[in-house]
Amino acid sequence: MLSITTIIFLIIFVLVIAFKIYMKVTTGWCRSHTCLVGKTAIVTGANTGIGYDTALDFAKRGARVILACRDEGRAEEARVRIVEETGNKNIVVQLINMSSFESVRGFAKKINETEERLDILVNNAGAGGIGDKRSTDGHVLLMQINYLSAFLLTNLLIGLLKKTKGSRVVNVSSIAAKYARNFEVADVDKFPGIYSVYNYSKLCNILFTIELAKRLDGIETTTYSLHPGAVKTEIFRHAKGTSKFILNFLKNLFFKTSEEGAQTTIYCSVAKDIEKYNGAHFEDCQEVPAYITTRVPGLSKKLWDLTKDIVELKPEELLI
Ligand SMILES: NC(=O)c1ccc[n+]([C@@H]2O[C@H](COP(=O)([O-])OP(=O)(O)OC[C@H]3O[C@@H](n4cnc5c(N)ncnc54)[C@H](OP(=O)(O)O)[C@@H]3O)[C@@H](O)[C@H]2O)c1
Ligand SMILES: *[C@@H]1O[C@H](CO)[C@@H](O)[C@H](O)[C@H]1NC(C)=O
Ligand SMILES: *[C@@H]1O[C@H](CO)[C@@H](O)[C@H](O)[C@H]1NC(C)=O
Ligand SMILES: *[C@@H]1O[C@H](CO)[C@@H](O)[C@H](O)[C@H]1NC(C)=O
Ligand SMILES: *[C@@H]1O[C@H](CO)[C@@H](O)[C@H](O)[C@H]1NC(C)=O
Repeated sequence: MLSITTIIFLIIFVLVIAFKIYMKVTTGWCRSHTCLVGKTAIVTGANTGIGYDTALDFAKRGARVILACRDEGRAEEARVRIVEETGNKNIVVQLINMSSFESVRGFAKKINETEERLDILVNNAGAGGIGDKRSTDGHVLLMQINYLSAFLLTNLLIGLLKKTKGSRVVNVSSIAAKYARNFEVADVDKFPGIYSVYNYSKLCNILFTIELAKRLDGIETTTYSLHPGAVKTEIFRHAKGTSKFILNFLKNLFFKTSEEGAQTTIYCSVAKDIEKYNGAHFEDCQEVPAYITTRVPGLSKKLWDLTKDIVELKPEELLI
């Protein structure tokens, strides 16, 4: 006879295995064979996690890949690993610190001066769990890293993107945007509370994409946003104590590997004939209905107009 504890243990074990199998089966893979020889891609936050696996995939496809990272040592380490694994030597590090508008401007200037084309811009760099810290520019740091700097960067590179036929802007957002309730555009520049700020920043990524899609003609440059899934990366590096223990436990048991987590970013960047989804949101390599929080009439335009003032875009930089 099996004891009751053994039976309960077995049931839990079977459920865990079943859930794990479900996760594996539903993970979307990018099956596209698109070759990127002669094309240039920028991936922000490319030294680790989803950004690293995205850059690695582009390198395998033959692209010139610009690893846009804040830490020179970590970035150089990633570059060497990518070159070794793919044999593609056309991989370069260009420093960018998303906590500082000055750094974003310096990066864009350098790219604009030295690159002839830009086929893919992946706004991937992101942070979580940094509380109510402020940036030296005076904004909520998490909002600046996850959204404001990506807005500024994309606008400063829009000339180069538009010049490159078929270019794409891909924004790594999150399903957290779905839970960003009661968001008002003014929240972009004030601290809405520790549990809302990440959700709000990820909602802004999507609203930005929607508005960008409207402003681009959809022929030369298109844009997509996505949720990568729950992915085993360093994103919880700032968690502490019990929550760190629980997050790490769940992460190791159930989360996607970062290679799996990069698939939807790769899909939106290279899959053929997805231009009809300009401005749409993706999960597991498929277009999904827009989250209810993004379907507020006029919200994306209001956010755009406020953001361009916050990041202090100059009149001559308003190209779209
Ligand atoms: N993991 C998930 O489950 C999950 C779920 C939904 C959405 N996402 C989104 O996926 C994206 C990638 O996250 P990940 O999971 O791969 O996390 P990660 O492993 O922590 O990687 C984040 C990347 O962003 C960079 N970064 C952070 N702050 C920066 C700054 N101020 N300036 C420049 N780069 C900065 C990091 O650089 P350093 O190494 O120098 O810190 C790192 O390269 C994020 O936008 C995140 O919100 C992740
Ligand atoms: C990024 O910029 C912020 C604000 O200027 C600064 O405090 C931080 O040290 C910088 N980080 C890196 C890695 O350069
Ligand atoms: C990029 O370069 C073009 C000319 O090559 C110039 O007109 C434009 O202002 C530059 N943009 C930025 C952001 O440096
Ligand atoms: C933020 O999103 C998470 C899911 O990612 C959700 O559990 C939480 O309730 C949301 N918080 C707020 C304040 O909207
Ligand atoms: C991607 O982010 C940029 C910068 O925030 C924004 O302008 C653009 O509209 C976004 N695209 C999508 C599809 O969310």
